[in-house]
Amino acid sequence: MNGPLTDAVDLTLLEPVLARYHGRSRSALLPLLHEAQALYGWLPRDIQQAISRTLRVPLADVHGVVEFYTMFYNQPTARQVVRLCSDVACTLNGADDVATAVESKLGLKPGATSEDGRFTYERVPCLGMCEHAPNGLNGTRPAGNLTPAAVDAFLAGTHPEPEARLYGTTLLKLHRIGKIDPTSLKDYLAHDGYVGLRRAMGYTPEQIIQIMETSSILGRGGAMFPLGLKWKFTRAAPGHPAEKHVIANADESEPGTFKDRAVLEGDPYSLIEAMSLAAYVVGAANGWIFVRGEYPRAYQRLGHAVQRAQEEGYLGRNLFGRQGFHFDIEVRLGAGAYICGEETALFEAIEGKRGFPRIKPPFPTTHGLFQQPTVINNVETLIAALTVARVGVEEWLRFGTNESAGTKWFCLSGHVERPGLYELPFGVSIRELIAMGGGIRAGHEIQAVLIGGAAGVFVGPDKLDAALTYEDARLQAFPIGSGVVMVFDETADMRHVLYQLSHFFAHESCGKCFPCQIGTQRQMEILRRVAHSHTAQPGDRATLLDVGFTMTQTSLCGLGQTAASAITSAIKLWPELVAVQAVGAQGTQLPNRKHLRRNHKDSR
Ligand code: SF4
Ligand code: FES
Repeated sequence: MNGPLTDAVDLTLLEPVLARYHGRSRSALLPLLHEAQALYGWLPRDIQQAISRTLRVPLADVHGVVEFYTMFYNQPTARQVVRLCSDVACTLNGADDVATAVESKLGLKPGATSEDGRFTYERVPCLGMCEHAPNGLNGTRPAGNLTPAAVDAFLAGTHPEPEARLYGTTLLKLHRIGKIDPTSLKDYLAHDGYVGLRRAMGYTPEQIIQIMETSSILGRGGAMFPLGLKWKFTRAAPGHPAEKHVIANADESEPGTFKDRAVLEGDPYSLIEAMSLAAYVVGAANGWIFVRGEYPRAYQRLGHAVQRAQEEGYLGRNLFGRQGFHFDIEVRLGAGAYICGEETALFEAIEGKRGFPRIKPPFPTTHGLFQQPTVINNVETLIAALTVARVGVEEWLRFGTNESAGTKWFCLSGHVERPGLYELPFGVSIRELIAMGGGIRAGHEIQAVLIGGAAGVFVGPDKLDAALTYEDARLQAFPIGSGVVMVFDETADMRHVLYQLSHFFAHESCGKCFPCQIGTQRQMEILRRVAHSHTAQPGDRATLLDVGFTMTQTSLCGLGQTAASAITSAIKLWPELVAVQAVGAQGTQLPNRKHLRRNHKDSR
């Protein structure tokens, strides 16, 4: 349907789809909206009404969901949306030039649809492929390392698709990626597939929990909650297996974070096996993978893997000859809302609602998805547990330090020669990681490093020898978070970087609570002015610190609690970023970058 867009909607296209969904509950809302939008390119009122009747969800609620998720449209768009990343790592690597080329080629500004209905063009937050920056998505086809010269191929859909770039000294958890065909269960089985789960099933669930506690795996999504404890609480929660859930949180959406994508696309069966292990331990029959909407390729590969596992008896009833061990998985596609990475917002999304975080307690271990006992783990956390099951806890403990056992995936991006995903034993320093990444570009020097992602903190060159461990992170007051290490050389305009981070949080705040809803806006307004007009007003710094403090202390969920973290860290380290300098009649002006460079050198 590539003709001009009109408001006329022929519902006959949708009827076979609706028939398949007939009788299902509200939790089918997101998948049904995705299917409807794939047919029409957008979700006009007539379609929302038909969906509302089919799932028996009030029309106002359907509309509320469509409004909430940025990848659902209630205005006409092309069926194929061209998205260009406008976030930090891509901007550092020339995303603005690529955008200019796309805009001139299409004759469109961001948010617009071409007259012929072929292209809708958007600039979007991080697409989770920062090691290939600058990046774009043409419909469901990802593209990396874009240049203005590559724009024709990108728009034609012929630009090569990027694969994950893996590095590291210890590929314990990434050992299969690139060596197997991710669509082949046979290949997976030939490369240690299901060795971990079969070994684990020689133990009781209680013994496995003990092994996980000894292995000291902390949540790798950033929250750092001990895995063993989470599994223990969920196992202990009352409920039949049919009333318990295992969820893989594959909604990584934070600028600079691209670690889970490698497994989702390159080794999807390992996630299924890891979730089956969790299900065996906690006694759950239902599995869910919630993958971000910007990972269409991962979604396809996961969907295929789940289907093959079902066909071959690796998912379903009485698994591995064990009576009563039933476990199946449904893959759910997000629709462009960073907040859905927050565990309770993710439950709401699967339940077919807007992704508003819930107040905790009660906690997911007893009141999770559908208010039932739920274990929800980040993808890397699940793979870490499976690795322990496969290699044994003694082998696992050979890596890392006393307090930080095993390996961690680090997402190295920004101004480095070899950006990519590095699996390393805990204990490598920031400087060593950057050196492994080929260092920064010749003739340049490090200005700042962002650790832990948009919700992390900036450190200066004086902190490069800090080790990437939980204990050193605590000591040096930076979070390991999801493993982001983004490097900025002296050419980066740090004011613009801060504005981009603030823009991200203002864009992604769900609006449920005031400190975050208003605070992220205020923060962005100030930093936009500072970045764009290079004018700081007296009081800007104090206001930013005050807004940051208020959000941190009073926001409902982790997004608001960390939305000021990186910004506050930067302006504490480098007050000149938002300092006012009197320059006579022209008003006020910020110090230039040369001044900032000198200041960094002085601070070493
Ligand atoms: S802190 Fe922000 S994202 Fe979290 S609930 Fe409040 S408004 Fe929503
Ligand atoms: S993909 Fe562009 S910043 Fe991550």
